[in-house]
Amino acid sequence: MSSPVGDSDAASDEAQTVRVALTGDAAPYDVTVGPGVAAQGPALAAGFAADGRTALVADERVLGLHGAPGGFDAPALSLAGGEQVKTFPVLEQVLDFCAASKLSRGSVLLAFGGGTIGDLTGLAASLFKRGLSVVQIPTTLLAQVDASVGGKTAVNLASGKNLAGTFHQPSAVLCDTTLLGTLSDGEYESGLGEVLKTAILAGEDELSTLEACAAALLARDPEALQGTVTMCVRTKARVVASDPLERGPRRSLNLGHTFGHAIEHAAGYGQVPHGVAVGVGLALAARASAMVMGSPNALVERTMDGLRHFGLPATMDELRSRYGLGAALQTDALISGLGHDKKGAVGAPEFVLPTRPGHVELGVALDPTILETLFA
Ligand SMILES: NC(=O)c1ccc[n+]([C@@H]2O[C@H](COP(=O)([O-])OP(=O)(O)OC[C@H]3O[C@@H](n4cnc5c(N)ncnc54)[C@H](O)[C@@H]3O)[C@@H](O)[C@H]2O)c1
Ligand SMILES: [Zn+2]
Repeated sequence: MSSPVGDSDAASDEAQTVRVALTGDAAPYDVTVGPGVAAQGPALAAGFAADGRTALVADERVLGLHGAPGGFDAPALSLAGGEQVKTFPVLEQVLDFCAASKLSRGSVLLAFGGGTIGDLTGLAASLFKRGLSVVQIPTTLLAQVDASVGGKTAVNLASGKNLAGTFHQPSAVLCDTTLLGTLSDGEYESGLGEVLKTAILAGEDELSTLEACAAALLARDPEALQGTVTMCVRTKARVVASDPLERGPRRSLNLGHTFGHAIEHAAGYGQVPHGVAVGVGLALAARASAMVMGSPNALVERTMDGLRHFGLPATMDELRSRYGLGAALQTDALISGLGHDKKGAVGAPEFVLPTRPGHVELGVALDPTILETLFA
């Protein structure tokens, strides 16, 4: 059977390329991972631009730290990165920038920043003149291992995160691992929660490899970073290729997230970094799986060890004491926070539970007594 995901020859000696080949109408695209690959952005984007026009939307902090990728000198819009850019007023600003830059449907937008800039720019690209191409140059660990691959775009509504968005696949993604050197420890750590999630979803080989390189990864060792980002991209590519519109298997990527979103909601958004909440959610999901499905306790231990190796809290109590959230993260608030997970079906929250590395059970309902034990 042919695999939807394959590695082609490296673009440079050090870079690795993962092809994302989707079912349906979307064109396949390459994700290139390696030190310095952001510099390829302008030429790559120009190659995709039928009208030769490109424009850059960038996180101003990243621009200040690293300069424009590849010395890009076409129109650029610099925005303060962070969740506050994922709003309709800023979306309109990006669309006006596209108009001022005289972009057409044959032009290419480059997104240079974390997941917030990527989600915003992807949405603008899918809307301007009914859609132009986007090249993603993700600059956070979370965006490289997760947000930049798969084509989901969004802005937030007052009523919830990511409630207005589209599926719009990029033409290419460049994951430049050297950019991660300037991330704050907190932002980096948050990405590691998603990395552990991805390794558990990927399988035994990937999880063991991650366990073996945990210390190097924490130290942002270039080789460990390249191997890990590539593993995550390959895994996410495999999952989204089989289910581009999230109708079935793609929901496995929600591992740890039903619990994680409940934690974020009960704590108040922004109080606990997303990847940290998801990390605790992974441990809770493994424990739930052991309790209701008889899955091996070894997976619980490996999940908690992995989190601790990355310096992340592994239990509700560790989380509460680390963020001083003992009062907010009470069982009742957490259980009512479960109702706010937008990905669950209407009604009872649904969980993705890991049964062993590489295997999950989708759509599991959990009794209130189990939830009380987990959240205690
Ligand atoms: N589309 C998807 O499939 C998907 C998946 C997961 C998450 N997301 C979205 O991604 C967003 C979170 O992304 P994020 O964690 O990258 O956050 P972010 O974009 O807010 O970046 C976090 C912070 O890091 C700074 N920063 C970015 N790159 C840097 C660098 N190289 N050096 C120093 N500082 C840098 C930014 O200025 C910002 O302050 C959320 O809005 C989430 O909904 C989307
Ligand atoms: Zn996530």
